[in-house]
Amino acid sequence: MGLTVTALLMLLINAHAAETTILAPLSGTDIYNGLRGKSFNEDWKFYKGDASEGQKTGFDDSSWATLTLPHDWSIFNDFNEHSAAGSGGGCLDGGIGWYRKTFGVPSDYKDKKVFIEFDGAYMNSQVWINGKSLGTRPYGYTSFEYDLTPYLVYGGSNVIAVRLNNNQPTSRWYSGSGIYRNVWLTVLNPTHVDYCGMFVTTPTVSSSSAAVNIKTKILNQSGEFQLVTLKTTLLDAKGNTVATQTSSDVKINADGNSTLSQDIAVSNPKLWSPSSPYLYIAKTQVIIGGSIADTYQSTFGIRSFTFGPNDGFSLNGVNMKINGVCNHHDLGALGAAVNYRAIVRQLDILKAMGCNAIRTAHNPPDPQVLEACDRLGFLVMDEAFDVWETGKNKLNDYHLYFKDWAKADIQAMVMRDRNHPSVIMWSIGNEIQSPIVKTAAVLRDWVKAVDSTRPVTWASNNMGGSNEQAITDLLDLAGHNYHPKWYDILHNKYPDWKMLGSETVSAVRSRGIYKTPADQKVLRGSDNQCSSYDNGSDAGASNARQSYKDINSRKFMAGEFVWTGFDYIGEPWPYEWAAKSSYFGIIDTAGFPKDIYYFYQSKWTTEPMVHILPHWNWSSDTNAAVWAYSNCDTVELFLNGVSQGVKSAGDSLHLAWNVPWEPGIIRAKGVKGDTVVYDQVTTAGSPARVKLKPDRTSIIADGRDLVFIETDITDANDVLVPNATNMVNFSVSGPATIVGVDNGNAISRERYKGSSRSAFSGKCLVIVQTTKVPGSIVVTANSSGLSSDSVTVSSIKAID
Ligand code: GAL
Repeated sequence: MGLTVTALLMLLINAHAAETTILAPLSGTDIYNGLRGKSFNEDWKFYKGDASEGQKTGFDDSSWATLTLPHDWSIFNDFNEHSAAGSGGGCLDGGIGWYRKTFGVPSDYKDKKVFIEFDGAYMNSQVWINGKSLGTRPYGYTSFEYDLTPYLVYGGSNVIAVRLNNNQPTSRWYSGSGIYRNVWLTVLNPTHVDYCGMFVTTPTVSSSSAAVNIKTKILNQSGEFQLVTLKTTLLDAKGNTVATQTSSDVKINADGNSTLSQDIAVSNPKLWSPSSPYLYIAKTQVIIGGSIADTYQSTFGIRSFTFGPNDGFSLNGVNMKINGVCNHHDLGALGAAVNYRAIVRQLDILKAMGCNAIRTAHNPPDPQVLEACDRLGFLVMDEAFDVWETGKNKLNDYHLYFKDWAKADIQAMVMRDRNHPSVIMWSIGNEIQSPIVKTAAVLRDWVKAVDSTRPVTWASNNMGGSNEQAITDLLDLAGHNYHPKWYDILHNKYPDWKMLGSETVSAVRSRGIYKTPADQKVLRGSDNQCSSYDNGSDAGASNARQSYKDINSRKFMAGEFVWTGFDYIGEPWPYEWAAKSSYFGIIDTAGFPKDIYYFYQSKWTTEPMVHILPHWNWSSDTNAAVWAYSNCDTVELFLNGVSQGVKSAGDSLHLAWNVPWEPGIIRAKGVKGDTVVYDQVTTAGSPARVKLKPDRTSIIADGRDLVFIETDITDANDVLVPNATNMVNFSVSGPATIVGVDNGNAISRERYKGSSRSAFSGKCLVIVQTTKVPGSIVVTANSSGLSSDSVTVSSIKAID
């Protein structure tokens, strides 16, 4: 017997608390459909191209590839200078692709309802079951469900077919192409809770008690009248029952539905917050004639928050800044194909920086992103659209579908995501071109119709515009993209506006590249790289330090979402081809922090830290600009043991010394109260070794889990060689495969799907995935002329 869904959830919730426990990836459970869906990801056939009559049951797909979803066909491509995606889309082609899956349906499903859920398919999906069209869904970022029941062959074989068309350019960033998120099959009794049919809210919250309201929509598809009892139980994170309520004799007409509202009090609730992301579970049972007809479960959190026009954001009565980042959805070398472990790794890296919030730029995220945000403790701005009626990629982006689909898509997002405590605001759009006031009002109302508990905002970079001001005025929050001069002007003009920096900074940098003068703007270079001193911004634009100051010197600003947490594929501003991925990230596409990561850590965390830059391999005529980011009281710099002076860190944004370079060790000593911390950089000799550093040495044999192996080129003394570009060849023995390689270099055009990678600024990455077979995985890295390295990772039995 496998674990029950509740036990699995407990494992998920508790896993993060105990560092030694391995995170169990979500297994056989969706997270917004009552945890009732079964994974439907395996044994799909795929064809890249169009297939005439590919929807027909008898179509011969034997020559098609067999694969497991989630799948992104674009990430397997070579970069193409002439791709219709453009450099904005990462120079990776899209086009048309088909998927088919043949599956058996037992005859006892005859009395059931059978649904299929797609968490997202990019894009323009058309879906058929046994040759019958189920529908189309243009927006590639939306989740949707179809009822298969009327068309199934019971006790026989069935075929589901999906055609996708990513007719690029369709997004301003890399979208990926394919069924790139999970697919679920849900088999229910005819009387059951609707898809996304439970809505949990917490109308009043204090540390001594909370009122929890659960609205549950029950569908009666049995063809006859039903008398139903609804029993709802609240469980704490350990699975203990907190409270139960039973509503009996609920009458539902044949083919009717009924929404029940239950109020349950929780005394001494454990409040959810980024620092204490405590989750409860609401479990409801639909009982008919004494038998349980359906069980629907949702995690939820108990927390309250307010935005004020003068004092910004407060959570559970405590004023705090939103220290957030915007992220696009790709997962670097894995492309857009969703992987739970890869999402958690990104969030773990951000958490260690002190980040407490994510903006899902500029589309609904994969639902697992929100599950991970709930569990790891991130606030979320959940965003619907990048365009309304007017396109940005004029040809093919979502503006073509907005008029017909906006209501369905925005309500699908809100219905799906409204039980997540992490989600604290809905964004109806980003930098909308020629925005129409009426459209904004309609979008707001569509959101409010399915969730009136959260504020609605948008992200505008044109706050001086009269339409933009009129729209912001009818929303709950004023999301400013850039242009901090409007913060004060509009705070004075509209004293009741509640404001935040929905997008800030947009400075660019390449990990490990330093361009001087460090204190002047250096945007472009003939090497197509950007500088890692915080000096990579456009003439008029802010850098990270200035944006931080703009937000944090104003109590009325609720906080900021920095553009971006992670680099993403596409939008390689300030370059075009030959660059193919962004420079905006605080962290590169491989997951390696750039120096600016430590600026945010120095401001967003309190654990004493100091970080110095640049590397220490220069020529003897260099007068090096040495910078430190620190939250200590003082920082003293030493070159080969000789003090270069003590500086008071206090509220400063960075500390700087000019040091005539000589080889050796540059070392910073940070002092905070009684605590002393150090950071140092050593001059490296020639490349001599490859060094592998896996992020974990024990992972799960479920065919999904990943180990990310950081690969350093070091000298004979294990010092990272900061300008090394050696080619590294990876190989794996044991039950695992290499699923991606990267080095974070925006101008590298090596394929993400490969087994070798050149280093960039001394580093590259290999990502290895388990199979379902447990065992020892040995990953080896060789590089010509260097001593090789290998690591062993145990793949342990999955909990089924
Ligand atoms: C913003 C936009 C983002 C991204 C960024 C780059 O204006 O909202 O999607 O394009 O610029 O600086």
